[in-house]
Amino acid sequence: MRRKLVVGNWKMNGSRVANADLLAELKAAGPWNADVAVCVPFPYIGEVALSLQGEAIAWGAQDCSAHASGAYTGEVAVPMLAEFGCRYVIVGHSERRALHGESDQIVAEKARIALAHKLVPIVCVGETLAEREGEQTDAVVKRQLSAVIHTLGHCISQVVVAYEPVWAIGTGRTATPDQAQAVHALLRKQLKAATERADDMKILYGGSVKADNAAQLFAEADIDGGLIGGASLKAADFAAVCRAAS
Ligand code: PGA
Repeated sequence: MRRKLVVGNWKMNGSRVANADLLAELKAAGPWNADVAVCVPFPYIGEVALSLQGEAIAWGAQDCSAHASGAYTGEVAVPMLAEFGCRYVIVGHSERRALHGESDQIVAEKARIALAHKLVPIVCVGETLAEREGEQTDAVVKRQLSAVIHTLGHCISQVVVAYEPVWAIGTGRTATPDQAQAVHALLRKQLKAATERADDMKILYGGSVKADNAAQLFAEADIDGGLIGGASLKAADFAAVCRAAS
């Protein structure tokens, strides 16, 4: 049985005071019988790392540069994240693909550099509403994952995949457990063609996961946890999702 993983994606939210309150409440609410992590804005990583030292909650970043160092103003390199004990880094979130023009190949390069420095990339894939309505879902997620498989080869087994239908992110519209499971099964099949370890890999679902729908989603055979946006900003909500994964 794969152990579930719940990752909070704070996005561009928080403040030093709010983060301290949130983490204090989370520490009090846990531990859970699942892996739990929070991916936080860059400036807060150092403080979050200190707060979570020795706790059962890991931490990570929401993006990274595809380069290890150099003249890339405004970028943050994976070795820097490693210095602060990050276990995870989200790559290819749909907001980065849509708002920052990240291509499948850039996302794959980010996954590669994360692995090279022993961070676990959480590789996001997902279709837009127009793509779903045009029956392009399978083709889109396969194309997005295929770029990463092609770049990483058998090391693909070391990534976490997150299926996040763009139309379900922050909209309150969740994929039904059946809809999500269908795509997760497809992704697992694609991973199986690339690695013998596909059955050990985690495929998370993301998109309006909340306390009241998490258990149903997590009960599906190929849904190994969640990438949680809005509901990761309130300790009680995030703790309830973590409980649902336990
Ligand atoms: P949401 O975001 O839970 O607020 O829909 C999920 C995500 O974008 O990772």
